[in-house]
Amino acid sequence: MLKQRGVQILGTGHHAPEQRLTNHDLTKFMDTNDEWIRQRTGIDERRICDPTKGENTTWLGTKAVENAMADAGIEASEIDLLLFATVTGEMTCPATACRVADNIGAQGCAAFDILAACSGFLYALNIASDMIRAGTYDTVVVVGCDVMTRIMDYTNRGVSILFGDCGGAAVLRATDDLSKGKIIGSMHADGSSWADLFIPVSPLDCPPGQPKDSTRMLSLQMNGREVYKFAVKTFAETISHTLEQVGLATEEVDMFICHQSNARALETMRKKFDIPDEKLPINIDRYGNCSGGSVPSLFDQVRRAGGCKDGDLVMFVAFGGGLTWASMLWRM
Ligand code: COA
Repeated sequence: MLKQRGVQILGTGHHAPEQRLTNHDLTKFMDTNDEWIRQRTGIDERRICDPTKGENTTWLGTKAVENAMADAGIEASEIDLLLFATVTGEMTCPATACRVADNIGAQGCAAFDILAACSGFLYALNIASDMIRAGTYDTVVVVGCDVMTRIMDYTNRGVSILFGDCGGAAVLRATDDLSKGKIIGSMHADGSSWADLFIPVSPLDCPPGQPKDSTRMLSLQMNGREVYKFAVKTFAETISHTLEQVGLATEEVDMFICHQSNARALETMRKKFDIPDEKLPINIDRYGNCSGGSVPSLFDQVRRAGGCKDGDLVMFVAFGGGLTWASMLWRM
C-alpha cells in the first residue's frame, strides 16, 4: 500500500539581474510617461538581463536554483527531478532544465521544461507535489524563470512597459508530517483564447485578422484589455472556488502569493476579498511582470522577510498565456 507522505518546502531562492530599467529610462526612447505606467500598472522599474554578459534564462535560473539549494542546505546529488517553467528558454532542445541541472552538477536527475507561461511555476508545483506524494521522487526542485526582455518589442509601448526579468525556485522534499504540502491545487487552460497572448515564430502563426508582419516575430503579442478582464475574473473565481472546495474563509489564509501582472488587478482582488495589505504582497513595482518568475521570486522575498512561516496557510494564484490559470493552497 502507498505510504502517505507530506511535502515540505525545504528552501527557496530567487535572482534578478542587476541592471534596472525605470519608467524614466523608457521615456528616453518611447512615447510614454511615468504617471501613465504607474497608474495603469503600478510599475516603477524592472530588472533586465544584459545578454552581452551572458545573462539569459539558463543563467538566471541557475542562480535562482543555487540560492534555493543554499537555503535548503542540500547538495545537487540529492535532487531527483528538476522542473523548469519558462517561455524564454534559449532553445527548444535541450530543455533549459537539463542545462540548469548540468550547471549545478545534478547529473542523472530527471529534468524537463513546463510551458504554461505565467502559470508555469504553479503547474510545476502541482506536478512536483503530486509526484512526491505518489512516492515517485523524494526531492524536487521547481523553478519559474523568464527573461521577458528577450521577447519584447520596445516599439510596442502597450506591451513592453509591463515586463521584466527574474527567476525563482523552491526545493521540495517528502516528509512524514502529513499536515505539510498541498491541500488543494488546480491547473486549467482555455486554448480558444490563445490569440490574446502569444509569441509568433512565423507569420503563419498570427491569427486571422491580425497583421502577418515579420517584425512581430518572436515578440510577445498581447490584447491588453482582454487579458486584463481575464485576469480579474480568473483571480476572483479561482480564489472563491479554491476556498469553497475546502470550506475555508479568506481570513483563514495567512498569505496570498499572486502572479504580478498588474497592481490594479491585485488591488481589485484585495478590495473584493477584503484582504489586508500585508497578506497580499506585491513586487511588480520593482520587477514588473516576470511571467513564470513572478510567483516564485515573490514567494522567496516574502519567506526571507519572515512570512509564509512553518504552519502558515498560503494561497498561490496565477494566470497567463494559453490562456492558462492555476492555483494552490499550501500548508507550510
Ligand atoms: N504610455 C502612454 N500611453 C499608452 C501606453 C504607454 N505605455 N500604452 C498605451 N497607451 C495609450 C494607448 O495608445 C491608448 O491611447 P488612445 O486612447 O489615445 O488610443 C490609451 O493609452 C489606452 O490604451 P489601452 O491599451 O486601452 O490601455 P489600458 O487601460 O487597457 O492599459 C494595459 C493597458 C496593458 C496596462 C492593461 O490593458 C493591462 O494591464 N492588461 C493586462 C496585461 C497583463 O496582465 N498581461 C500579462 C498577463 S500574464
